[in-house]
Amino acid sequence: MTDPSANTGGIATCSMTIMLNGESRALDVYPWTTLLDLLREQLDLTGTKKGCDHGQCGACTVLLNGKRINACLTLAIMHEDAELTTIEGLASDEALHPMQAAFVTHDAFQCGYCTPGQICSAVGMVAEGRAQSADEIREQMSGNLCRCGAYPNILAAIEAAMPETRNRVGVFESGAPSGGHDGVREVKP
Ligand code: FES
Ligand code: FES
Repeated sequence: MTDPSANTGGIATCSMTIMLNGESRALDVYPWTTLLDLLREQLDLTGTKKGCDHGQCGACTVLLNGKRINACLTLAIMHEDAELTTIEGLASDEALHPMQAAFVTHDAFQCGYCTPGQICSAVGMVAEGRAQSADEIREQMSGNLCRCGAYPNILAAIEAAMPETRNRVGVFESGAPSGGHDGVREVKP
């Protein structure tokens, strides 16, 4: 967490810019601030959730240059000029993203804590273009845990939203991402 009152040992903040949900933002961040803490603690974008804070649960999943990533495992300062999309940026003109709408239609949550990460991850997974069957979707979404066990409805929502999401986001050429979450999750090619 970036606490302005914390003893920073004389280390200054670093200036950076990032394209956040379609808007260019100039920011001052400490070199140790994770992308997740930047969003939640500094920018008050609390839709992205902190679960484990060490890459195990997927609650913090966001889209960085279109690819899903665990925001708790990467430093904000590493992403100068990147294009970052959080759950708050998926909808457009008051209309839900098809993946968001499908989660509502299919009642794909209970407490909802994992839901922003599930939705961002599902959008990123569709762009990767490798998951076609239900089993492949389960495999590719295996880094996003749901303590409420809403998995059957999450799967149904993703299957329903895949065609429209694919039309919207396209698919990376040659399945570009090397894993489900960059540098975090290994998935089968
Ligand atoms: S908070 Fe659990 S993976 Fe980031
Ligand atoms: S809906 Fe509660 S953790 Fe997934």
